[in-house]
Amino acid sequence: MDERIEKLLLGLEELNKAGGQWNISHTTGQFLYDLIIDKKPEVIVEVGASNGYSTIWLAVAARKINAKVITFEFVPEKVRDLVSNLQKAGLIQYVQTVPDDANKRLGELEEKIDFVFLDGRKNEYLQQLKMLEPKLNSGAIIAADNVISHKHALEDYLYYVTNENKYRSELKDIGTGLEISYLLS
Ligand SMILES: C[S@@+](CC[C@H](N)C(=O)[O-])C[C@H]1O[C@@H](n2cnc3c(N)ncnc32)[C@H](O)[C@@H]1O
Repeated sequence: MDERIEKLLLGLEELNKAGGQWNISHTTGQFLYDLIIDKKPEVIVEVGASNGYSTIWLAVAARKINAKVITFEFVPEKVRDLVSNLQKAGLIQYVQTVPDDANKRLGELEEKIDFVFLDGRKNEYLQQLKMLEPKLNSGAIIAADNVISHKHALEDYLYYVTNENKYRSELKDIGTGLEISYLLS
């Protein structure tokens, strides 16, 4: 990671302390980065970019392995900050930003998807996963944040990825809780 991006991430972490951004933890960002470098997905989809803190982690990894990130954010002020932060990081060319409701647009994706990061509204994770399922490559990885902090809101999602025999799923006790689910072939 170059110094400019490290500084930008640290600045965003300070901003996050003031509230309102709901960014993932540094540890979660590092974990997602390492997982992407290890598994080498070609197409990464993020739902809920906020100001782009998590998107930067995904995009730095994508740059290293020549992958592409598609991210959804529907609040106009957040989209403005997202684009500005990606430009500051020099990562804008690795990210397709979709300034719209993911629930309306996920079904239109034409790409086959290898990696998904769910971090929008917690009660929508399951419907978003189901919208993406026809487009997932075998072995695709689904990372879902807040599974400890929002355990109750995510009950249906967690039941689905752990009990339907479609995924091998494990909970990482980092940040607010990250569920990593591997699509079985
Ligand atoms: C928890 S924050 C995301 C934080 C970000 N992933 C990070 O760690 O830096 C959730 C964001 O998802 C956005 N969001 C929620 N539901 C969405 C949807 N259906 N489509 C697009 N954006 C959505 C919200 O506007 C909010 O900015």
